[in-house]
Amino acid sequence: MYNYIKKIKNIRLSIEKSNSLNKLECIRIKCFGKNGFFSKEMKLIKNFSLKDKKIIGSILNRAKKNIQQDLINRKKFLENIIINSKLNNVFFDISLPGRYRDYGSLHPITCAILKIERFFEKYGFSLVSGSEIEDDYYNFDSLNIPLNHPARSYDDTFRFDDFRLLRTQTSSIQIRIMSKKIPPMRIFSFGKVYRKDHDKIHSPMFHQIEGFVIDVNIKFGHLKKMCYDFLLNFFNKEIKIRFRHSYFPFTEPSAEIDIMNDNGNWLEVLGCGMIHPNVLKNSGIDPDIYSGFAFGIGIERLIMLRYKIPDLRMFFENDLRFLKQFRL
Ligand code: DAH
Repeated sequence: MYNYIKKIKNIRLSIEKSNSLNKLECIRIKCFGKNGFFSKEMKLIKNFSLKDKKIIGSILNRAKKNIQQDLINRKKFLENIIINSKLNNVFFDISLPGRYRDYGSLHPITCAILKIERFFEKYGFSLVSGSEIEDDYYNFDSLNIPLNHPARSYDDTFRFDDFRLLRTQTSSIQIRIMSKKIPPMRIFSFGKVYRKDHDKIHSPMFHQIEGFVIDVNIKFGHLKKMCYDFLLNFFNKEIKIRFRHSYFPFTEPSAEIDIMNDNGNWLEVLGCGMIHPNVLKNSGIDPDIYSGFAFGIGIERLIMLRYKIPDLRMFFENDLRFLKQFRL
């Protein structure tokens, strides 16, 4: 019996003295491994008398529990020493500022589109999307634009061939939608358009919003009221607006709207008009029953005026100092 107690005492002592996780692991294997102390002793127990078996069994069981606990405690202790020594070797400067996290923000064009989208949705318009690659038919022919119109030329457009091009205006969605839907309809759409232009106020790609309304008895006054409301909402202040007579092949009469900037100059912001009877006919709508108005807005131009941005190219240079100034 004494022999057992001595052996167990020695094991517990060796655990207490072990100074590395490796050594501790060796002790664990020596105790609890397949041929370790406990499995060997348990096998030998059969050689003893019943009385001794009981005593030795209970000594071994208690020892097992104690040693397992000793191993856990020592392991935690040694691990703590390792962590602490690592921490002590690293210098923490608690006066350093925290790590800076840069948050993204919406591009000013996206902000403007979302704001405009909200406005038109309140007015009962439905949003549709169009394709950036268009047929000449939808981009020009159906919109009453004559074959010899300069806007069709290779010099002004990005063409794939004589029949397909990158759309030059979002007006190209008009016939696509009109020929599918039955009036009344209030539709708006936005997206990229492409023209061969590049300077301070023009870029080869820019964004437009297109909208139109078709119903019985639609008059120029409806268009005027909506445009006033829209511009007031977008600029969020009283602004001077004027309607100037203009020409677009797809509207008659046509107008352009100018707003007055802080220097007292009139600047054009959108084109609009009453939809030309030929355009209605091209989409199968009877112009003797229905009438409608349409408008097209250059988004970049509108934002430039609202925020006094001097150069259109700033939208596409992706300078974060510029981009971060815009909020919804
Ligand atoms: N599509 C014209 C442009 O790109 C803008 C425009 C003017 C659209 C009058 C319209 C409109 O729907 O009625 O310059």
